[in-house]
Amino acid sequence: MPSTQSRPPLSVVLAHTAEAVAHHIDGVIETSGAPGERLAAAMRHATLAGGKRLRPFLVIESAALFGVPAAAAMPAAAALECIHCYSLVHDDLPAMDDDDMRRGKPTVHRAYDEATAILAGDGLLTLAFEILAGEDAGPDAQVRIALVASLARAAGVAGMIGGQMLDLAAEGRFADGAPLDLPAEAIIELQAMKTGALLRQACEAGALLGRAGAGERASLDRYARAVGRAFQIADDLLDVEGEAGMVGKAVGKDAAAGKATLVGRLGVEGARAELARLVGEAEAALAGFGSAATLLVEAAYFVADRRN
Ligand code: IPE
Ligand code: IPE
Ligand code: MG
Ligand code: MG
Ligand code: MG
Repeated sequence: MPSTQSRPPLSVVLAHTAEAVAHHIDGVIETSGAPGERLAAAMRHATLAGGKRLRPFLVIESAALFGVPAAAAMPAAAALECIHCYSLVHDDLPAMDDDDMRRGKPTVHRAYDEATAILAGDGLLTLAFEILAGEDAGPDAQVRIALVASLARAAGVAGMIGGQMLDLAAEGRFADGAPLDLPAEAIIELQAMKTGALLRQACEAGALLGRAGAGERASLDRYARAVGRAFQIADDLLDVEGEAGMVGKAVGKDAAAGKATLVGRLGVEGARAELARLVGEAEAALAGFGSAATLLVEAAYFVADRRN
């Protein structure tokens, strides 16, 4: 793994990002206008109870490549994290993956109830766009519009939502109940949508904030695509090899549910080899940025090696 010279190690930067993004989201929920206690409390449960904050980190670090200060990138980072957290709340619902534990705590519908979880997710989804449209998200309205469009596309039917639909369809939810026997290319496409789209948006947001040129944008996007693919393979490996107490969520569910995963298709060893190849691809994509991209490269290694 490459080493950082002048910057603190990745773990320290991630911890700092996690604290800063939590503080920002807490403030946004505080002024959100949610009536009563319950809805805001459920939104806090969804956003403030742990999480690696990898997507906010990617927004802030991508923007930093172009000299954008972390504070200026924070609204875009927080907006994306709100979308991610909402996606998890809904992903865990009984109608979807039916999970009881998330980030080592009860899922939102377990801690509250299903209706509150649905509305808390919807609340975070809409709050994300309120954050991005506000002047704090950037002094230039054109940049803010571009950020809104980019996040809407990534979170929507051509991205995360579409991928979630394909994920459930692959389980056989909408057919005769038998899992679909998808080829590896179809699984890669499904995962690029359900997981990759939001991770790519992180780097795109950084590039938009930094007014990156076309070549720099393309390099960052190549990196983000590889990281996105690696991220879901690592998640699927954790489902097979992880331990719930460490991972913070139930494991051993994907195969039983008939989930379409590359681990299922390639086997554990094949998936590990693909993971290593993707980390190499991510590193190569950022070569042109030199040492400025060291932490982003380290993040790709972290994604592959993560234990939760
Ligand atoms: C989990 O995402 C869901 C997937 C896209 C696989 P993370 O592993 O980033 O979840 P947190 O935010 O760290 O809890
Ligand atoms: C989740 O994929 C992807 C999204 C939430 C968009 P998973 O269903 O594999 O994520 P976990 O394992 O529940 O975190
Ligand atoms: Mg799921
Ligand atoms: Mg799930
Ligand atoms: Mg999973």
